[in-house]
Amino acid sequence: MINIPRGTQDILPEETKKWRYIETKLDELMEFYNYQEIRTPIFESTELFARGVGGSTDVVQKEMYTFIDKGDRSMTLRPEGTAAVVRSYIENKMQGLPNQPVKLYYNGPMFRYERKQKGRYRQFTQFGVEAIGAENPAMDAEVLAMVMHIYESFGLKHLKLVINSIGDIDSRKEYNEALVKHFEPVIDTFCSDCQSRLHTNPMRILDCKVDRDKEAVKSAPRITEYLNETSKNYFAEVKQHLDDLEIPYVEDPNLVRGLDYYTHTAFELMIDNPNFDGAITTLCGGGRYNGLLELLDGPNQTGIGFALSIERLLMALEEEGIELDVDKDFDLFIVTMGEQADRYAVKLLNDLRKQGVRADKDYLSRKIKGQMKQADRLNANYTIVVGDQELENDKINVKNMQTGESEEITLSEIVNYFKK
Ligand code: HAM
Repeated sequence: MINIPRGTQDILPEETKKWRYIETKLDELMEFYNYQEIRTPIFESTELFARGVGGSTDVVQKEMYTFIDKGDRSMTLRPEGTAAVVRSYIENKMQGLPNQPVKLYYNGPMFRYERKQKGRYRQFTQFGVEAIGAENPAMDAEVLAMVMHIYESFGLKHLKLVINSIGDIDSRKEYNEALVKHFEPVIDTFCSDCQSRLHTNPMRILDCKVDRDKEAVKSAPRITEYLNETSKNYFAEVKQHLDDLEIPYVEDPNLVRGLDYYTHTAFELMIDNPNFDGAITTLCGGGRYNGLLELLDGPNQTGIGFALSIERLLMALEEEGIELDVDKDFDLFIVTMGEQADRYAVKLLNDLRKQGVRADKDYLSRKIKGQMKQADRLNANYTIVVGDQELENDKINVKNMQTGESEEITLSEIVNYFKK
């Protein structure tokens, strides 16, 4: 038997109903915020992520599904959405569009070669947004408010919004120097990746999955101590907006995020439930990326966004015991007796479905009792029983399965009856 690849999952019909419910709701929410959907390819040139996400991040160094295509080009299954959306923004010259800032959202599979865990997959589905073209604390606040609105609209309550500022590029420069000074004396005790990151990208040492519990990581200088005036003011304004919006948050000066493009506002939304039995508590993450467009040879524009995975949203819903209001209704099950009735039902079904009625019949030659059971399993609101007698008399009983009541109508009335 051939098994499913590790870290991936089949989403079976009972589950896809939940997925569709969630995705429809997310689409609706995006309309309130004036975000439009974008779809980019599942694979991109490897260089996009190496440059955009950062060559010394775990994502790029260890987790990418990279392959050489038949034209000898290095391609990568996208590990995240931001770099691709920014690539598309630049390539399609969206800075010239009349509607600014450009507010985009996406929803689709992402791929990271990670260790499988509850809430961590190798193929997962990210819903994300990117607002490009406005460097304004109110823009950051809109994105944060949207994150909260999304989770609350599903009824989730045990949430903790964690925010930090990782400053502008100048603040980061000073901070990096401080980190090098701090880690240099002990770097021999760190993993080889961290050793090579020390001089290229010391901030990555802080979120290394191997070394992150080391004492030197805990005692490392914090970015907040190195923020310049511009960065401090920007962060203060974002927080002011959050206070105005009455959005509770906690500040965590250790939150640096795992991707290189972030500047200023960085945030994560966590499950805040002491009874949660899982190691993964981050539901979504995001932040501002002021240098990314230029890094990808684009215009001098800035952006902010976030992404969540639907898998983790479902995990949180399950954890809080929230049932989604998925539509389980089915309109009609046609019970048939005899060959003639069966033939009649095939034609009737076809007419009903074309009129928008959700209807089905038996295909396994079940006895009447078995057919009624099937109607129950489908949650059918109505059943009709068609036999030789009904065809002869031109009369049919429509049974309401909820009330148990029946009504007699003629055969020619059936389609119209259910169309209503
Ligand atoms: P990220 O923090 O790498 O950020 O991922 C965002 C979210 O994707 C996570 O919070 C989590 O919900 C989900 N996620 C990541 N890896 C996995 C996995 N292996 N299994 C299940 N879910 C996962 C980004 O990807 C940025 N592009 C977000 C962003 C958008 N920043 C600005 N704009």
